[in-house]
Amino acid sequence: MSFHDPLVDRFASHPGWGCFMARPEPLPADGDPIALVGVDVPLTDLKRSETTDNRIWNDIARRINAYPFRTSDQCSEKHYRDVFEFLRLNNGVVRRVVECGVFHGGLSVELAGCAVAFDLAIDLVDVNPGALLAAWHRIARTFPEALDRVRLFLGELPNYVQAVAADPDFDAALVHHDGSHRFPVVMRDLASLYYVHKRVHALIIQDTHLRHSDPSNFCFVDAAVAAVFGIDPRYQPVGTTFVTTTTPAGYRRGEKHNVYFQAGRPEGMLIPIAENRFLYPHPLIHRLDDFVQCPARQREAA
Ligand SMILES: C[S@@+](CC[C@H](N)C(=O)[O-])C[C@H]1O[C@@H](n2cnc3c(N)ncnc32)[C@H](O)[C@@H]1O
Repeated sequence: MSFHDPLVDRFASHPGWGCFMARPEPLPADGDPIALVGVDVPLTDLKRSETTDNRIWNDIARRINAYPFRTSDQCSEKHYRDVFEFLRLNNGVVRRVVECGVFHGGLSVELAGCAVAFDLAIDLVDVNPGALLAAWHRIARTFPEALDRVRLFLGELPNYVQAVAADPDFDAALVHHDGSHRFPVVMRDLASLYYVHKRVHALIIQDTHLRHSDPSNFCFVDAAVAAVFGIDPRYQPVGTTFVTTTTPAGYRRGEKHNVYFQAGRPEGMLIPIAENRFLYPHPLIHRLDDFVQCPARQREAA
């Protein structure tokens, strides 16, 4: 394995790496869950509209907006709304949502609301155990009745696929990808879905419009989609599409670690799995293990 993600190296020594986590203990009422994440970012205060023509969305939005702490929710409101619409339209078809990359739980909390409304199971997957805990405690404050439907998995998507591949309850899944944005990592994540593709209904992948100022960041999510599904996958755009190349608030020209959004490219792509072909990996050449950066520690020890 030539490319090692420093973020994965940071967390893969955790004893629970590559496994589902035990149900977390409650936090004290005044404890802010994002303190558990251990990553400093500007907080965004993203509110969800409570006045749309859909009562279920408005109820979910109202409860998300009542959360007493600030967070950094990383997708546009349109992206969050499009994910909701997909789940609403596929009510009874999609039975499980796998969210890869949770951070402060911006989407996770919405998925928890959808889990109750549309009878879904939710698996949250992240390399950072603090992010999983923060998302859990945000759900606990916002949709406590959803907690029995939520599981936390510490590791990357290929680790998760290894864990559920033999589980018949893993079926009719929507996979939402907003984890690493580095080409080699996203490519491995998407390739791992090949090994369970008959049980994945659709993939929604975020930040397919994003570029990073530092070339060694390898931030090419859309290119990883092309590597796995070809340059012309069947997809629907999700979220915001900017008419011109756009930089986020706080952008300073020439500084490293800036990002920009490509003109005319969608924030996210909805990829129905049955309507697409995996051009990579090759069923006779690759094995799921080829895409696992750091195997589960318990598997290693066994
Ligand atoms: C952009 S944030 C996710 C934001 C979230 N979807 C939201 O609605 O605000 C990215 C998250 O992906 C996690 N991450 C980074 N690399 C990962 C990987 N290889 N596998 C799984 N999660 C990863 C980070 O720890 C972080 O929590």
